[in-house]
Amino acid sequence: MAEWTAEDIPDQRGRTVVVTGANSGLGAQASRMLAAAGATVIMACRDPEKARDVADGEVRRLDLADLSSVRAFADGLDEVDVLINNAGVMAVPKATTADGFERHIGVNHLGPFTLTGLLIDRVRDRVVTVSSGLHVLGRIHDDLNWERRRYQRWLAYAQSKLANLLFAYELQRRLSSAGRSTISVAAHPGVSATEGQRRDTSLQGKILAGGRAQAPEMGALPIVYAATAPGVDGGSYIGPDGFAQRNGYPTVVRSSRRSRDTALAAELWARSERLTGLTYPL
Ligand SMILES: NC(=O)c1ccc[n+]([C@@H]2O[C@H](COP(=O)([O-])OP(=O)(O)OC[C@H]3O[C@@H](n4cnc5c(N)ncnc54)[C@H](OP(=O)(O)O)[C@@H]3O)[C@@H](O)[C@H]2O)c1
Repeated sequence: MAEWTAEDIPDQRGRTVVVTGANSGLGAQASRMLAAAGATVIMACRDPEKARDVADGEVRRLDLADLSSVRAFADGLDEVDVLINNAGVMAVPKATTADGFERHIGVNHLGPFTLTGLLIDRVRDRVVTVSSGLHVLGRIHDDLNWERRRYQRWLAYAQSKLANLLFAYELQRRLSSAGRSTISVAAHPGVSATEGQRRDTSLQGKILAGGRAQAPEMGALPIVYAATAPGVDGGSYIGPDGFAQRNGYPTVVRSSRRSRDTALAAELWARSERLTGLTYPL
């Protein structure tokens, strides 16, 4: 693929895009790029005040750590073209969400799982779910909420990012079996200098981040490509084309064998439905 840049974003006039976590980092950058291309951007943030000056668009409250907030947000929404599940927490200390889930699996997976399920009949074009290269370190544990094991924040993050990929691929399978034209695409930004990335100053964090981070303007490109490029296939994974997928321009990238395990994906889906109390209409 030739180098795809912000100049290549197709005209977005007439399209509505929801971006979660739009007040900071990659979500803010993606919102600015989409708004500049003419999209109506709905910026879904847990603190709307923080998103006021990010980009032209509408700011609405969404706290993915509280499923009642997810339901209230979904209730207030009409049809949209694209849902970008971007918001996430990265290697944070142990805590639980309002619904009692460990924070990574709750905010990064079970919240977006619920949001997507509630909105899926109203998403015309595609759902983009943002994962991470660190999904390769992830395992889906019986103890999904880290109640019985010693908590390891990077592994808790990795579990949630593996869950993002299992979810995105399973969603695509279910959409196609149901004969829907809406597609599900996964993306990751490589290593990008954002708040989430900077917050972790530990040696472990630096090693896992793997060297110099690229600017958010570059990190947001795979997300925006996944959300707007016409030729993107459902079930594909878009990331940077550089060394070890750490930086570069958007391209189709590979994910771990575990992320492609269809039995694991179906099992996680069933558990996610049980935990959130949501049955998908697919
Ligand atoms: N930066 C990287 O190198 C990198 C690498 C791989 C993957 N990613 C992924 O990229 C995505 C964006 O991360 P980022 O680097 O841009 O980090 P960031 O600057 O920390 O932004 C994360 C966003 O998620 C929001 N968020 C956190 N908890 C939330 C909640 N409970 N409800 C709603 N929103 C919530 C944050 O809101 P607040 O400001 O209110 O906290 C913020 O807007 C994440 O999914 C992350 O896993 C990033």
